[in-house]
Amino acid sequence: ASSNLLCGKKALVTAGGTQEPLDPVRYLGNRSSGRMGYAVAQALQEAGADTILVSAPSELPVPSGVQRISVMTAEEMRRAVLEYFPDVDIVVKSAAVADYRPKEMAAQKIKKKGTSLFVELVPNPDILAELGKMKTKQVLIGFAAETENLLANAQEKMLRKNVDMLVANDVTQAGSGFGSLTNCVSFLFPDGRRIDLPQMNKLEVARHLRDEIVELLGGTKE
Ligand code: PMT
Repeated sequence: ASSNLLCGKKALVTAGGTQEPLDPVRYLGNRSSGRMGYAVAQALQEAGADTILVSAPSELPVPSGVQRISVMTAEEMRRAVLEYFPDVDIVVKSAAVADYRPKEMAAQKIKKKGTSLFVELVPNPDILAELGKMKTKQVLIGFAAETENLLANAQEKMLRKNVDMLVANDVTQAGSGFGSLTNCVSFLFPDGRRIDLPQMNKLEVARHLRDEIVELLGGTKE
């Protein structure tokens, strides 16, 4: 029934964990597999949206009909997202973006020494917060991966980043969060509404998310 509710709409989805280089062979990263974001891209495409997936390195196949743009670092992700943002109607930021990057990338492989190694980290730009300031027509959706005070932290991110909906993701539970096939999330809205979904596979989560996007766009009447 939802096969063409997003026809004529353009969507931008981010997925995976950014990699911030330390030297030519090492990076700072996180455990995101990309699965949640790839599932969101698939669910939007299924509903007829023209979908671009800005992806940090991931082993996953590109969902059929989706255009993937491959990036590595937060800065590369930011550039790709800003390029497409003005033209899209829907943005879903499922990527796990590194909050910090090494200040400098060593030109050569860092040699092992018998002493402690100190690496200075500098903050990365917050892409979602930037989009929250720039948005005009776009429905903007963020994620919040939390290990404590899930709903309070997610609520704070929703307001600070000016999103239309926030997916609060408890990443401490088994079968939820980074790397797993399933996820356990709640949807929070600025008007105070909240929807708690039971644990389900990531494609099912993505389809629920897609249905909320259709509602936010008022798409059921089109
Ligand atoms: O990829 P999987 O293995 O399937 O795992 C899925 C997931 C756990 C990565 C996903 O469900 C999830 O929760 N993604 C968000 C992870 C995250 O980094 O959350 P955060 O609370 O640090 O960030 C909040 C939001 O701001 C996110 O939408 C994030 O994309 C965005 N952000 C964060 C930092 C930054 N510098 N720029 C951003 O845009």
